[in-house]
Amino acid sequence: MGGAELIGGEEKDAIAEVIDRGAVLFRYGFDKQRHSIYKVSEFEKKFAEYSGVRYALGASSGTAALRIALAALGIRRGDEVIMPAFTFVATAEAIIESGATPVIAEIDSSLNLNPDDFENKITEKTKAVVPVHMLGVAAKMDRVMEIAKKHRLRVLEDAAQACGSSFRGKKVGTIGDIGIYSFDYVKTITTGEGGMLVTNDEDLYLKASSFHDHGHEHQTDVPRGKDLRREHGFNFRMSELQGAMGIVQLGRLDYVISEQIKNKESIKEAIKEIRAIRFRELPDAAGDGGDTLVFFLPNKGMASNFEEGLTQEGIGTKILPSALNWHYVAYWDHIRLKIKNPNATWPSTDSILRQAIAIPISVKMAEAEIEKIISAVKRVAGDVLL
Ligand SMILES: Cc1ncc(COP(=O)(O)O)c(C=O)c1O
Repeated sequence: MGGAELIGGEEKDAIAEVIDRGAVLFRYGFDKQRHSIYKVSEFEKKFAEYSGVRYALGASSGTAALRIALAALGIRRGDEVIMPAFTFVATAEAIIESGATPVIAEIDSSLNLNPDDFENKITEKTKAVVPVHMLGVAAKMDRVMEIAKKHRLRVLEDAAQACGSSFRGKKVGTIGDIGIYSFDYVKTITTGEGGMLVTNDEDLYLKASSFHDHGHEHQTDVPRGKDLRREHGFNFRMSELQGAMGIVQLGRLDYVISEQIKNKESIKEAIKEIRAIRFRELPDAAGDGGDTLVFFLPNKGMASNFEEGLTQEGIGTKILPSALNWHYVAYWDHIRLKIKNPNATWPSTDSILRQAIAIPISVKMAEAEIEKIISAVKRVAGDVLL
């Protein structure tokens, strides 16, 4: 599950410090009462440093960070934004909230945006693309960037599920114009609820910062009450308690990933002898966040039987297929009329997702738990693949 498994004394102390030293939970102002302690601001600085970017902005959630990013990019009604068919519903919600129309592209066997289909879906209305780095694995950012550049599109990376993962030496989220992360309870690191936006572009950062705080320009030489505003905004601020917790969790991020990778590799190595299964394509295996092991069965009937077999063995799956209906556009009848071509289908995505099984990987996995998963997968494979 990630950072949530490690919540303990350090997080408790960090939160207690905010309360003990003035209890100012608001990220701006009240300098005297808070003894000059600014936790969100410190978290942002450390996060930017960790990510190798110039700017980071805390947000109340990953969904909020997506909405802020779209506002900073100037996305509005009449614009089209391309996104993959497999993601959490929040990606589409943020595009719809910005007034734009989500255009849904197929995924490939990396379970992320298929670059060829992304290019196929570009029209004169397309303003941006949102590659999503699902389940800790980077999308094919080299091709995505090449195509976006050719068509002059902005790139917003949804790295909600891939904080700390990288692609060819760069942290995901820092390759496009702007990137976002989620720190909700099940993410690589957590602040309970929370998110972060990163960019190297000063103009985008200033627009984002202003939009996430009712349009405040954050002038340093005037009191907050006299601050100027040019554009409308909203309240998507991160609180000081989230900031305090984020600093501690950020310090755990590399450990979370290295333990997950170790546990994932033990299982992968042991089950790779099952010849009929095919592992998920990893565009950069060295940058994997390690929180999920995905493999494909030869057909959807076998995948369905495989899930049933695992359930009987007491092994759950992660998203695929256990929560597919929240992560695959084909199920989203409640927003279908708001996406482009409401009657569209995604045959390639459909067949990839319905053949997939995802095993959740945790930070703390005892030898016995790893062994249990390995023998369950082997036993079920023996039954299903006969
Ligand atoms: C791909 C993706 N984007 C965005 C979000 C939204 O993040 P949050 O839950 O912090 O709002 C999530 C959360 O699950 C996600 O998986």
